[in-house]
Amino acid sequence: MNNFLDIHTTDPAALRNIIDTARAMKTARQGRPKGTPDDVQPLDGRMVALIFEKPSTRTRISFDVGVRQMGGQTMVLSGTDMQLGHGETIADTARVLSRYVDLIMIRTFEEATLLEMAEYATVPVINGLTNRTHPCQIMADIMTFEEHRGPIAGRKVVWSGDGNNVFASFAHAAGQFGFDLTFTGPPPLDPEREVLEFAAAAGRPVTIERDPSLAVAGADLVVTDTWVSMHDPQSAKERRHNQLRGYQVNAALMAKAKPDALFMHCLPAHRDDEATSEVMDGPHSVIFDEAENRLHAQKAIMRHCLGV
Ligand code: CP
Ligand code: NVA
Repeated sequence: MNNFLDIHTTDPAALRNIIDTARAMKTARQGRPKGTPDDVQPLDGRMVALIFEKPSTRTRISFDVGVRQMGGQTMVLSGTDMQLGHGETIADTARVLSRYVDLIMIRTFEEATLLEMAEYATVPVINGLTNRTHPCQIMADIMTFEEHRGPIAGRKVVWSGDGNNVFASFAHAAGQFGFDLTFTGPPPLDPEREVLEFAAAAGRPVTIERDPSLAVAGADLVVTDTWVSMHDPQSAKERRHNQLRGYQVNAALMAKAKPDALFMHCLPAHRDDEATSEVMDGPHSVIFDEAENRLHAQKAIMRHCLGV
């Protein structure tokens, strides 16, 4: 049994295997209606709990569809509807759920909640996003890059904007998959030191370049995300917009990257804030491939967790 808690705590060989499995499974069901089962049914008879303490479109639906395609069943649970949201401990919840289900996916606020769930559950636990990281997203993003451009190792990835949870998982992935990562954003919104330290210790120190035009030079991939994440107070919105305005990904910025550079955004987006619609809908953009690949990548992650 394997948890999938973060990219930096998962073995690089297992990460590579997940990407390869995801690609093979995607190819195997090309052209098939979404509701039809896969040829192999590794989750036959398995029950999966999908717990959401924050909103979700992609994570919720892609996990649900993925489990069903592999022959399993799901229960989609909102944290507030469970006793968890009314004072029952995470440890007790984890022990109870483990008596009913074979796998737990949780999207939550504090990383400590995820870790406590994993500590006390006797079934695998998957991180569906915390305030600190979003590993499932970055597995889909790496799969997407490689589908379009081949191996990501040695390539230049540039993140423009907030040094947030999605950035953190990119930084973890830089160390594990061996690509170069540049962060461009304002100092108050720099990534956490621990995240930068992991990438540096893994031999892929994150380059910090305050000027976005200089940062994107030679980029194979330009990535951004919302300027205000779900855990950020709404009161910070105006300040963040003022701090980040200069880091918008627009056509002028993309023109400074490599001519064949890709553009990614995990979605949901605030169009014409962090990225213009011109870029999001333009020739560099692979945002909907990323969204689709959440499904395939997470199916492979669930197989990894269950060893099936
Ligand atoms: N990218 C992502 O995780 O989207 P949702 O919040 O819709 O799940
Ligand atoms: N950084 C965003 C990602 C949403 C998928 C958030 O945490 O709200």
